[in-house]
Amino acid sequence: MQRLTLPFALALALMLLALPVHPARADDSLYRAWGGKAGIRAVMDDFVARLPAHPRIGRRFQGVDAQHLSSQLTDQLCELAGGPCQYNGPDMAAAHEGMGLKKPEFTALVEVLQEAMAARGIAFSDQNRMLARLAPMHRDLLEK
Ligand code: HEM
Repeated sequence: MQRLTLPFALALALMLLALPVHPARADDSLYRAWGGKAGIRAVMDDFVARLPAHPRIGRRFQGVDAQHLSSQLTDQLCELAGGPCQYNGPDMAAAHEGMGLKKPEFTALVEVLQEAMAARGIAFSDQNRMLARLAPMHRDLLEK
């Protein structure tokens, strides 16, 4: 038993060392369904462009750097979708600190995202898969 364990442990260690720094998830089907990074970027550009005009949450996005926001969101959603990306921005609590965000604003933002996803032809099931991965973030970014 012991003779088997050591080689196994060594092989495992070598496999882990050989992994790329930002490995894609084993399941990158959502990433591929969204058209890879370019597809995600197209939805994020559309989404970010819609936000300032929103009647309830638009004021939050006045003067915000749309290119930067879209780029950060693209990395974040790419990573969430299982793609080979890494979000390197501030965590969600820090990014929204002091905004005093409440649930209705989160809901409004999700509605705008749904409009952008539909406009870019993301299948309804793939919209919902992404929303399911985003939903738990409300705990971090809404005011306690
Ligand atoms: C799942 C929900 C959300 C995600 C994933 C998300 C993600 C992000 C990310 C990645 C950034 C950029 C951080 C940086 O690089 O500095 C950001 C910034 C921002 N978020 Fe959110 N956010 C969410 C919800 C909301 C909501 C509900 C609001 C308000 C209605 C909001 C308002 C903002 C604003 C105004 C900024 C820009 C701050 C600045 O650049 O001055 N976010 N968000």
